[in-house]
Amino acid sequence: MYQSVLVTGASSGIGEATAIHLAHKGFRVFAAARSLDKLKTLSGLGAGRITPLEMDVTDEASIASALAEISDSGGALYGLVNNAGVGVMGPVEEVPPADWRRQYETNVFGLVNVTRAALPQMRATGRGRIINIGSVSGRIAVPFQGVYASSKHAVEGLSDALRRELAPHGVKVSLIRPGFINTPFGAQEQDELERYTGGAYAEQIKIFKAWHAKGHPNAAGPIVVAEAVHQALTARRPHSRYTVPTKMLGFLALRNLAPSALTDRIFARVTGLDKFKKGSAP
Ligand SMILES: NC(=O)c1ccc[n+]([C@@H]2O[C@H](COP(=O)([O-])OP(=O)(O)OC[C@H]3O[C@@H](n4cnc5c(N)ncnc54)[C@H](OP(=O)(O)O)[C@@H]3O)[C@@H](O)[C@H]2O)c1
Repeated sequence: MYQSVLVTGASSGIGEATAIHLAHKGFRVFAAARSLDKLKTLSGLGAGRITPLEMDVTDEASIASALAEISDSGGALYGLVNNAGVGVMGPVEEVPPADWRRQYETNVFGLVNVTRAALPQMRATGRGRIINIGSVSGRIAVPFQGVYASSKHAVEGLSDALRRELAPHGVKVSLIRPGFINTPFGAQEQDELERYTGGAYAEQIKIFKAWHAKGHPNAAGPIVVAEAVHQALTARRPHSRYTVPTKMLGFLALRNLAPSALTDRIFARVTGLDKFKKGSAP
């Protein structure tokens, strides 16, 4: 009997790579996204062990019907990979409230709602794994990523609380913290930044956008995240956190150990924003 795993946001990037990787590793994968059309490419992959599911993580009715479909298919859910996410970018001051809500509805409340819906199946069997896809931005908030980074900081806190609440129920919780990964996410974030190239932070945004543009295309592919998810699903004692690629651990150590005054200067240097001086704009 294959163990069942639900992967949210499986139509692209990390979710798609994870669905395929887990299916090849012998899991029965329920690959969910908002549109079944976008999941077409998964049909026939993963040794026939992938079932596409329509699910919008911001819609409780759609979550309930996807979870019912999984339990009707026989065999309780063993793993949940909370991967669906969007990246809202821009100055904290200028991002409109609707975009703040879109960010939190997907990355935070969506994750909570899918988890709440999946937990009864896991607790009933006394075992299971929840893997939340956080981000290095859940620890390090660079400028103009405040909306996204704050949502991923929330995922860090949620993962800690869930891990401690669920341990006595046999459900283990891990957080994966990807750094830059080469997926369509980078282009989507670039589009978001473009909206702020005419505002009060225009010059800073242009500098930041140029730095950010180099990040995703030169990064590792989503398979590195898929492999970490597989480890978190199969290790007897999964880690509470996996950082991928591991070279990002250096930045996290810096963030944890160095004083903020120093890390502020380092991140300004890394992003090129140290060159910006107020009043220097043309
Ligand atoms: N790429 C990176 O550098 C990076 C780094 C750190 C963390 N992450 C995290 O990794 C996760 C996946 O990102 P990715 O890089 O694979 O990006 P991606 O290629 O843009 O994929 C995002 C996925 O989320 C889904 N999604 C968005 N809103 C949804 C909703 N309301 N309901 C259901 N699904 C929804 C999208 O599906 P639709 O087809 O329905 O739009 C898509 O499948 C995100 O949580 C992201 O924050 C990415």
